[in-house]
Amino acid sequence: MMVIQLDEVVISGLTKNFGDLCAVDHIELNVPKGSIYGLLGPNGAGKSTTIRLLCTLLKPNDGSATVGGFDIVESPVEVREITGVLPEEGNHTLYQTLSAYDNLDYFARLYDVPEDKISKRIEELLTFMDLWERKDDPAGELSTGNRQRLALCRALLHEPQVVLLDEPTAALDPVAAKRVRELILSLSEKYNQTFFVNSHNLAEVQRMCDRIAIIDEGKILLSGGTQELRQRLQATQNFRIRVVEKLEKAGSIAESMDFVSSVKREADSIIVTIDDPIGNNSTLMQSLLSQGVKIIEFAEEETTLEDLYLDVIKGGAK
Ligand SMILES: Nc1ncnc2c1ncn2[C@@H]1O[C@H](COP(=O)(O)OP(=O)(O)OP(=O)(O)O)[C@@H](O)[C@H]1O
Ligand SMILES: [Mg+2]
Repeated sequence: MMVIQLDEVVISGLTKNFGDLCAVDHIELNVPKGSIYGLLGPNGAGKSTTIRLLCTLLKPNDGSATVGGFDIVESPVEVREITGVLPEEGNHTLYQTLSAYDNLDYFARLYDVPEDKISKRIEELLTFMDLWERKDDPAGELSTGNRQRLALCRALLHEPQVVLLDEPTAALDPVAAKRVRELILSLSEKYNQTFFVNSHNLAEVQRMCDRIAIIDEGKILLSGGTQELRQRLQATQNFRIRVVEKLEKAGSIAESMDFVSSVKREADSIIVTIDDPIGNNSTLMQSLLSQGVKIIEFAEEETTLEDLYLDVIKGGAK
């Protein structure tokens, strides 16, 4: 069976300048329909600016983007109709004196949610976010985390096809953050909604997103499937080798191997980085044993995307 994968968001050469600063610099991204796409980068990288461009709050200086097939400059009204947004500091964009319920009721009408569906939809969302008991509290009196959840409810009210989330879990405690990740996963599965999520939390992106792009200083340094990026990491691998005595000797044997790119010494172990580990790690083990080093443990160190992320941010794209 042929599966046609449509891209829900297509970004092509998109650029935004603020005076001399190029906040978003000719970026290219394709977000497949139904995917959860993570845009990862440090402070000031251009993540929020990208979301503001996509939700038509800002106009690009160059390049273009489409959301659900609609051009962000030519058809901003259509883009907004099919898009839900949790802006950065989204909780400040609620009406602080209106109750949680009335905020959602107001925005539901603004988004043209059918009258007979409004109350059910609000109850469903508030219940899911554990906010139903707070429905009569003014938004301004909710805790930061609860306001964030309310802003998230608002973004989802009209069952948007595309959901843009700027740091959705930034203000949440770990339990609430997990709940939000689960919500996003289940929505993308159930309704095939597409999520575009900004984050500087690598662990979170790694857990939730099926595709990731890394942005820094307005440029996309790297993008790809989460699995694929993990595999790239496995081209080099760290191993922990725990030895009885002869730690120094083990270290210098490892250093003499041309496939070992780094050796770190700890109390009873050396941590070595091995290129193309399959095969090479047994070569290293053999040579340690044959020179009288007793090995207690020879184990793969867990690698995360963090290594790749820090590498890319430090050294630019490869
Ligand atoms: N309205 C604006 N006027 C001038 N400069 C801006 C404006 N908005 C953003 N910038 C600048 O553009 C760059 C990118 O900012 P942006 O908010 O997109 O970063 P970010 O990746 O979201 O960062 P953070 O993780 O801190 O939220 C920064 O240098 C920022 O100071
Ligand atoms: Mg931001």
